Amino acid sequence: MGLTGLRSVELGVTDVAAAARFYTEVWGLAQVAAADGAVYLRGTGAPHHVVALHPRATAELLSVTFNAGSRADVDALHVAVKGAALGRPAALAEPGGGYGFAVIDPEGRIFRVIAGDARHADATDVRGRPRDLAHVVLNSADVPRATAFLVDVLGFRLTDQTRMMDFITCNDHHHNVAFAHADAATLNHIAFEVPDLESVMRGAGRLRDHGYRIEWGVGRHGPGDNVFAYFIGPEDFVVEYTAEVERIDASYRVGRPDDWKWPPGRVDHWGVSDPPSDRMKAAQRKIRFAAPTAVA
Ligand SMILES: [Fe+2]
Repeated sequence: MGLTGLRSVELGVTDVAAAARFYTEVWGLAQVAAADGAVYLRGTGAPHHVVALHPRATAELLSVTFNAGSRADVDALHVAVKGAALGRPAALAEPGGGYGFAVIDPEGRIFRVIAGDARHADATDVRGRPRDLAHVVLNSADVPRATAFLVDVLGFRLTDQTRMMDFITCNDHHHNVAFAHADAATLNHIAFEVPDLESVMRGAGRLRDHGYRIEWGVGRHGPGDNVFAYFIGPEDFVVEYTAEVERIDASYRVGRPDDWKWPPGRVDHWGVSDPPSDRMKAAQRKIRFAAPTAVA
């Protein structure tokens, strides 16, 4: 029974058209569908879409969607989540379709589990453009409880713990989700995987051309060993280009906080990056999960 990966994030924004312009013309996604006021955006990879932009009165995170291997896996996971499910598995009416259900975690986050959704046959890497989602980092006031829900109920695996975060995965990527210690359940950031380091640099240059400064990076993380550059997108969603995310197998040894100590003053593996900007740190506390009733 299992999840196979991170498919998409569903974002509530006050100005769908402006956000869609950023994610297509600047960030490098492409519009694949529009329906009921929402816009659906794909990367160059196989997932039907990786971002859905829904019109809302305030910027908020509506849900995070994972793929399961099959409809039978969806049904099995629905049983596993018990009373946390928001309804029964059903065919999804949205673009991309599929069969799935939503579940609410102990801090009110909404995750969706779907199988059988549309995949693009023309998946191919394009330098400088996002392939798909790499991970979402979610702030939590109770990281052990947040991690336990995804590990014990949805079958994730813990790969590393630092003083700041728990890193967890549902496939061979070092992490698809991380929970960051914070005072509330908010969105920390959304990371998009680009093909290589060159693509992180080209993407960062494109953002600068459009007037977006690099808020953190370019650098290389410890856990996951991935290269990163962070930006503040429309409505203060923090977005990351990342590449070279470590792929792991069953032999990966779970790291603990003592394994991930930098020399004083260092905030990335190379030692070339300044710390995150204050603007980014503020934005990383702003976006909350929508109440369950707001989920389409
Ligand atoms: Fe990240």
